Amino acid sequence: MSKTIENLKEALHGESLAKFKYELYSDKAEQENLLEIANLFRAIAFAESIHIKNHLRALSVILGSEIILEDIISIDKKEVKSKISSTNKNLKDAINGEIYETKKMYKNFEKYAKKENSDVAELSFSLAREAEGIHAELFSNYLSKLQDNENFDSVNIYVCQICGNVELMTVPTTCPVCDHNDKFFKKVE
Ligand SMILES: [Fe+2]
Ligand SMILES: [Fe+2]
Repeated sequence: MSKTIENLKEALHGESLAKFKYELYSDKAEQENLLEIANLFRAIAFAESIHIKNHLRALSVILGSEIILEDIISIDKKEVKSKISSTNKNLKDAINGEIYETKKMYKNFEKYAKKENSDVAELSFSLAREAEGIHAELFSNYLSKLQDNENFDSVNIYVCQICGNVELMTVPTTCPVCDHNDKFFKKVE
């Protein structure tokens, strides 16, 4: 189980960093008057907080006591702030992070969780992996629009509070990632 405990901590660090970055990227997009992109960053920051909650629960189950995020993770906020760039570059950074998580990190973590018979960690990793793939796609679509100078229509964004899946415009009857029904989706304001 030791590898999975380590991996949950690494995932918690990555998710916390992504959440903090996306909140700053949202503010930056707002300053650049890219309001729809600002909304997407805010929504996906909230989605990362769902992954944090799930991973913390898994870690607490494995360790047999309630784990508090701040006790095990610290983010160098000053350093993150110093690396904020233009929204164009921030989107590229977000896409790279999401692709790394969905294609490499979580895949690898799932493999160890399976080997170490930790169903709770395996499920948490696999939900996050699928959601990160969707995040990558959404960021890529928005980046293409920005680069092509297309107009952004104002859309409602919904986040599944079970798995961190993000849906635009309408809520599906069943979440395609975690199979929970539409009442678990929250509209991001
Ligand atoms: Fe993500
Ligand atoms: Fe879901």
